[in-house]
Amino acid sequence: MALTTLKEILSDTREKKYAVGGFNMNSYEDSEGMVMGAARKHSPIILMTSMACVKYVGLHQLVGMVKGMSDSYQIPVCLHLDHATDYDLIKECIRAGFSSVMVDASKKKYEENIADTRMIVDYARAYGCSVEAELGKLGGREENVVVSEKEKAYTNPEDVPRFVEETGIDALAVSIGTAHGFYKAEPKLDFDRLDRILKLTKCPLVLHGGTGVPEEDFRKCIQMGMSKINVGTQLKKTYTDALKEALRENPDDIDPRTFMRPVKEACAQEIMRRIDVFGSENMA
Ligand code: 13P
Repeated sequence: MALTTLKEILSDTREKKYAVGGFNMNSYEDSEGMVMGAARKHSPIILMTSMACVKYVGLHQLVGMVKGMSDSYQIPVCLHLDHATDYDLIKECIRAGFSSVMVDASKKKYEENIADTRMIVDYARAYGCSVEAELGKLGGREENVVVSEKEKAYTNPEDVPRFVEETGIDALAVSIGTAHGFYKAEPKLDFDRLDRILKLTKCPLVLHGGTGVPEEDFRKCIQMGMSKINVGTQLKKTYTDALKEALRENPDDIDPRTFMRPVKEACAQEIMRRIDVFGSENMA
C-alpha cells in the first residue's frame, strides 16, 4: 500500500467528526508499535518525524521503513515531516517520498509566511505531496523549534482565509492555547477562537501540543471540527518508561529484543488509547 497523503487521510474528518492522530516517531520500535496499534483499531495514522529524526534514522531508511509498515499492516499511513524550517531538507524529504511536510514559517511575518509556504506547496505538488503550515506561534519546544512565552501568539482568525487561499495548503496548524512539551499548568483552550477560525475556512485544522491536553478538550475540539491532533512528548516518555522497566526486570538478559518488544507494545497501547478518544477507529 503506497503512503497516503495528508490531504487524503484528513479528507472526511470534519464531516464525520473524528481526528487522525499525528504521532512523533524516533526509531523503528516506536513506529512499528504505533502502526501496529492503529492496525488493531483499523485506523489511519500519521507518523511524524522531526528534522532531527530524519538525520538520526536517515532519509531513505525512514521512507523505506514506513512504506514497509504501510504494506504489512494494510492501513493508510501518512509519513509527515513535522515543523520543518530548513527548506532544503523539506525538498529532500519530498523527493525521497514523504507523503506530507509541514513548512514552519510561523516565526516570520505574515507576508513572508505566505510566500515561503506557497513556494513549498508549488514544489510539493509536482510530487503529489501534501503541505501543512502554521499561523500564530505555539509556545514551548518541539525538538529544534523553540518558542518562548514572550514570542508565543494565538492565531488571528482574520488572517486565515487569505493565508489558506494564497498558499494552497492542505492543513493549517492553529495556536489556540496548547503548547509543545509537558504542561506546568493545565492548558486553557480558546474554543471561541477555534469556532471563529472554523467558520472562516474549510481547510482541515491541526492541534499541536497534544501531550497533557484533557480528553474532554480533545473531544470538544473534534466535535467542533478539528481534523488532526499531534502527540509527541508523551510517546517519548512511553518509550523510555517501557525500556527502563524491561531493563530492570531482566538484568541478566542480553537479547535486545527482550527489551524492545515491550517498548513496541507500550507504544501500540498508547496509540490505541488515543484512537479511542480521537474517534478514528474503523476509519481506515
Ligand atoms: P507534544 O510533544 O506537546 O505532544 O506536541 C507534539 C506536536 O505538536 C508535534 O508537532
